Amino acid sequence: TKAYETILVDTDGRVGLLTLNRPDALNALNEQMLHDVLDALRGFDADEGIGCILLRGSERAFAAGADIKQMQHLSVAEMVERDWSGGWMAMGAIRTPIVAAVSGFALGGGCELAMACDILVAADTARFGQPEVKLGISPGFGGSQRLARLVGKPRAMEMCLTGRMIDAAEADRIGLVSRVVPAAELAAASLEIARTIAGMSRSATRAIKELVNRAEELSLAEGLRFERQVFHGLFSTADRAEGMSAFVEKRPARWSHR
Ligand code: CAA
Repeated sequence: TKAYETILVDTDGRVGLLTLNRPDALNALNEQMLHDVLDALRGFDADEGIGCILLRGSERAFAAGADIKQMQHLSVAEMVERDWSGGWMAMGAIRTPIVAAVSGFALGGGCELAMACDILVAADTARFGQPEVKLGISPGFGGSQRLARLVGKPRAMEMCLTGRMIDAAEADRIGLVSRVVPAAELAAASLEIARTIAGMSRSATRAIKELVNRAEELSLAEGLRFERQVFHGLFSTADRAEGMSAFVEKRPARWSHR
């Protein structure tokens, strides 16, 4: 695996492991990290040997937001030219399911990065927030849009307008995360989910990721039509023939990626 300046990359079987690694800055997301994360995600996505990506930070922080010290001196022209926001949006092109394991702070861009993943597992120490308002700016990596869709307008408004941090229990209650586990169990629990997904048919998991993500964009009627097309299309894959034969023959499926 490649070496990066701001992240650690490794694999565990069919799981691609990506660890944000600027501990001294609580994993503040700078431009280099944007490039490193995207490059690593694209590498995993292109690798048939990878069926799921696990994205995590440190115990103290998943990521405390965009790097304020780097942003502080940027002009409008430089923001437009460098387009960090657009860069992080490019994550939407990654077809492999991404599990985010959040421990400690997930603030601003860090909360937005976690929400851009597909499954969010939180340690009981996790704290989420959109504190940009305190800096005189708005969320910029999708927070205003994703948070409103995930937890509804009143809660998104309160979080974005006051910058209040919420703890893992509240994040669980309002539907921001898929699961909360004791901090000591986060690594194992998130890896277990990633391994389970990575052990499924690659064509099926990629199709499902695309389908569920479309639910945020399409009307119900359009979404159901899209699902029908994808569902019928999957009947052309070797994995669906194998998956159904394996069920009937009462044996584990041998997916085509192996
Ligand atoms: N950018 C740059 N550096 C950061 C940072 C950030 N977002 N968050 C933390 N750091 C740095 C601190 O400056 C500090 O560095 P030094 O040791 O060099 O002083 C180091 O990380 C440790 O942080 P603290 O000493 O502040 O730790 P703490 O435990 O006292 O507080 C915290 C933790 C509450 C998370 C606090 O660091 C904090 O409020 N961070 C900023 C959170 C924030 O505003 N995030 C939003 C950023 S804007 C954004 O993300 C825009 C967008 O939507 C795209």
